[in-house]
Order: sequence, then C-alpha cells, then structure tokens
Amino acid sequence: MMKIRKYILMAPMLFASSLGSMAGDGVKVEHLSVNNTLVRVEGDARYLMMPVEEAIADARVNLLVDGKLDRTFFVRLAKSKVDYSVPFDLSPYKGHNVVLEIFSNNEYSPLGEVKEQACWDALTLGDSFDATNTEKYRPAFHHTPLYGWMNDPNGMFYKDGEWHLYYQWNPYGSKWQNMTWGHSSSPDLIHWNHHPAAIEPDGIGTIFSGSSAVDTENSAGFGKDEVVALFTSAGTSQMQSLAHSSDNGKTFTKYPGNPVFTLESEARDPNMFWNPETKEWNIVLAHALDKEILFLTSPDLKEWTLQSAFGKGIGAQDGVWECPDLFPLEINGKKKWVLLVNLNPGGPFGGSATQYFIGDFDGKKFTADTDASGKIPTKWMDYGKDHYATVTWSDAPDSRRTAIGWMSNWEYANEVPTMQFRSANTLPRDLSLFEGADGQIYLASTPSPETLKLRDKTIVKGKSINAGKKGSSIALPSANDGICEVAFDIEAKNNAKVLVTLSNKLNEKVVITYNPADNTIAFNRTQAGISDFSHDFPAVTVSPTFTEGGKTSVNMFIDRSSIEMFAKDGRYAMTNLVFPNEPYSSISFSSEGNAKISNLEIYSLNAN
Ligand code: FRU
Repeated sequence: MMKIRKYILMAPMLFASSLGSMAGDGVKVEHLSVNNTLVRVEGDARYLMMPVEEAIADARVNLLVDGKLDRTFFVRLAKSKVDYSVPFDLSPYKGHNVVLEIFSNNEYSPLGEVKEQACWDALTLGDSFDATNTEKYRPAFHHTPLYGWMNDPNGMFYKDGEWHLYYQWNPYGSKWQNMTWGHSSSPDLIHWNHHPAAIEPDGIGTIFSGSSAVDTENSAGFGKDEVVALFTSAGTSQMQSLAHSSDNGKTFTKYPGNPVFTLESEARDPNMFWNPETKEWNIVLAHALDKEILFLTSPDLKEWTLQSAFGKGIGAQDGVWECPDLFPLEINGKKKWVLLVNLNPGGPFGGSATQYFIGDFDGKKFTADTDASGKIPTKWMDYGKDHYATVTWSDAPDSRRTAIGWMSNWEYANEVPTMQFRSANTLPRDLSLFEGADGQIYLASTPSPETLKLRDKTIVKGKSINAGKKGSSIALPSANDGICEVAFDIEAKNNAKVLVTLSNKLNEKVVITYNPADNTIAFNRTQAGISDFSHDFPAVTVSPTFTEGGKTSVNMFIDRSSIEMFAKDGRYAMTNLVFPNEPYSSISFSSEGNAKISNLEIYSLNAN
C-alpha cells in the first residue's frame, strides 16, 4: 500500500435499547438553547459516530466525563447534510458517564434553530467504522491518514526494524483542527500500518509539530533506549513540551513538568538530535514570526540553553519560518551541515516550500556557506508546489538521511477535492550532497531505494525515441487507476525545447518542458484536471536541472493525484498535485527541433 485496512475488523453494530430520542439508539439529545445541545451517551459501544458537513463552521464540544470537563474539541457537526461521519473513541471512558456539551456556530447556517440540524439523527453508536480506501484521489503507494486531515510529518524515528511516522492529524474531520499526533509505522517506508493517536491535546494545548529520537544514553532519565519526543504545545501561546515512550512509540507519557521551555514570542516545531561529540542534545526551533532558527542545547531535554540564532534577513523571508531540521552529510569525505527551513508563504511558486542552507555547525552555532558574491544563497529542496514541512528520520540505519514531506500547500490544502482523508506525504527520499557548476554545494533527493519494490510489470524497457515536431505517444499502464513509474533520459539538439505530455481522453494534460537553453525543467498543471477549488492551484513550476550540454533525466512517480519528478541522480525534485477526472492514459514526447529520448522505462506499480 499504502494498504488501507478497516480500522478494526468490521463487527456487527451493537446497539443498546432504544431510548426514544431523535439520535441513534443509546444516544440522547437535549436542546437547551439556540446554539447549545447536550448529547448523553447512554449505550455501550466503542464509537460515537459524529456526522460532519465540510462547508460549515466548527461546533465546539466540551467532553464531560462523570460531570467533569475532560477536554474540548471542534467538529463541523452537520447542519444541512451529512458529508461523512468520524468516529469518537469511547473506549477510554468505559464505565463512566459521558456527555457532550455542544455549542453550534450558527454563523454560516441558514437554520435558525439548532434542533433542525442534520447531525442529531445521524449521531449513532457502533463498534466499527469503515475506513476502506474508496476515494478516487486516494494515493495507492503514498502514506495517507486512514481518515481525517493530515499536515506535517512529525517525530519520525527508526527503531528495531520499524520506521515510525507521526503526523499532524485532525481525527474529527478533514480540515485542519484539533492537532494530535497520528501514528503509522512501516517495515519498508512503503507499506504503512496505522495506529491509534500517539499524543493527544491536553490542558496546555493541542499538539503541534516536533521530533522524536531514541535516548540511547538515558540522558532524560526515563530509561535507556526510551523514545523521547519534543513538540509544541499550542495553547494561547506556543510552548515546548516533552513526552516519552517505553513501547517503541505506541503510547507516550507526557512529562509532568511541561512545558519545558517558553519564549515571549511564537516559537515552534523543536527538532532534536543527540550530539555524541558534546554529549548533549542539539535542538533547532523555528522562531516563526522572527523568521529565524534558534539553536539550543540540553543535557536532558528538560533544561534548555539558548545558544544562538540564524536567519534574520537571510534566505526567503516572505513568510513564517517553520519545521526546521539540522543534520550532517558528507561530500568528498568532508562533513557539511544541512539546515532545512520550511517557509509559508513565500515559496518560489506561492505558498509553502522548503528552503535549505549548507554550512558548518560547531554544536552551538550554524554558519552558512556564501556564494561567489559573499551572500548566503537561497536554495530550494523541491521545485514543485506541493512539498512542505519536510524533515528527516532520527536514528535511520546505515547512516541514511531519509526525509519525508507533506504533499500539499497551505494555499489550498483545506480545499483539495478529497473528503474521507485530506493530504498525503511525499515518497520517502534519501538525501545526499553534490557540487553544482557554480561551486556551491546542493542537496540531492532521490526516492528511497525501497520504492523499487513497487515495480510490478515492465511495460517498456530500454526504448529510444527520436522526438520531433510531430511527437510520439506511448500508452501508460491502465492497471490500478493511474499509478505508474516512468523514467527516461533526454538529450536535446541545438538547444531545442523538449515537451513531455501526460494526457487522458478528456484532453486533460500535464506538460513538462525541458529547456536546454536555460537548463530548466517546467511542470505545467494549468490543464491537468480539476482546479476550480482554488485560484492558486493552476500553476507552472520550474526547476534548474543542475546539468549543462542539453542533457537531463526524469524519474517520475504518478499516484492518482500526485506526480513527483526527480532527476535520476536527484539533482532536482519537483512535487505537484493533480486532479485529473480520469487517469492520464498516455505519455508523448515532442521537440521544437530534434531530441533523443533514451532508456525509457515504464512500470506499472503494485503497492499491495
Ligand atoms: C507547519 C505548521 C507548524 C505547526 C503545525 C500545526 O505546517 O504550521 O509550524 O507546528 O503546522 O499544525
């Protein structure tokens, strides 16, 4: 898969005896005023199904357990129609009295009275819910949440043969809200198992982005090889908190002294690593509105010392700085440090994107390399519109530095045409460094080697095509509703542009243009399919190829609603969403002059 399994095995729905209310059996609804309703859960079941209408405002829900406020969350409880239902897990409250006190927001509702709303009839109890992979835009081999909204990947670590991936999750709807760490794990970065929420909101706040690592030194005192996590508690202000896990990241215990670190201004997304040289933790933290990264150290993740800051006035500055990561990589036997800084908005094609800096780090301070003119250049990790919040795994095996990003853009992430789930992560990518023609060091991203396992049938192998004005077209595999991998080399003659077009019978198309005159490759999705959900969606994104002499290469992964394009050696990466009404069924190659396409390979992919 991404194998979407039913969350629990479908079991017969267990209903308690009827209580004669409007809602499902075992659920009693009492309307108190125009916007206030009490829902009493009187039946015995695993889940309360909450009906959602996407287009309306959130209702605020106070969860009262045995008469005490347990927590508050937000759900778009349906008013006119039910788009889908989300499960609220009642199992932690078994044997207790559960009441939901609901405050409806009537702002966007034509309904005057809360009692007329569609949700009340559809509040039901059940022991299972169906999260089968039914939506046509649900990727087949990218990580997605089983249901609900997802943004940033968080807290990734590798331990005992498993890659753990947490993510910013809304368990109660497919728009951003109720930030919780969702959890998936995988033996191979491709087939993901889904687990219950790992870290849930508390009195300090919702759980924003952060990082995890294995505490091999027992530095925090929770035990040797305990998994430790740092995250931002988002209440009225943003604070940094600590949690730890003794069951390999399934469940976390929050540190009672939280928050462990506060600042007077917005700071978030702590990312840590144990520094064996200094025998302490290094932590990078986004000083979001100040558009800089703070460097902190800690012997035990509880006491923090602010060491330095990097970034004021440097790099792309047209948005807030978020989700940093700092790690070493080698080039020509020399260690260099990579500082990833995600930025929103202010990306090269609007909205969110990942910039990075190459430099040196002495355990306290990061110093960025400069270019020939003495300036610190802005470098982009991916030249598509849908690559954000990218960070890397801690403790990856074989000295690998493996990254994953959120495959969307804050400009329209909440509006893309999916419903049961919203957003996928990029393919995992292994990172390395290379030297560009300008003498600068750049970051290369290649799909992690595990993606090779996806290859199913070889449709084309080793083919060469002379691409001229007329163009030649090849059918794409139709199996699995438009998922495939395509790779080829391009050699352009006399600086003539080369066009590669993916299209379907509806004449929806993606046009990729290699321009050897300026060594760029462009991705045009203006006619790719559905785009009316946001005027920011239609776009042409352009990347330098980091090659010269009229040659470049493409390795492309198509997964229903996304296309990731890499140079074969990873010198450029470009990630874009597309929403064709039908899968693209052919690829064609043409050139304004003459061009040679060689080593063409097309594979159908199988993620099962
Ligand atoms: C980035 C971000 C983070 C924050 C999280 C909240 O997309 O804004 O800075 O922690 O999302 O969900």
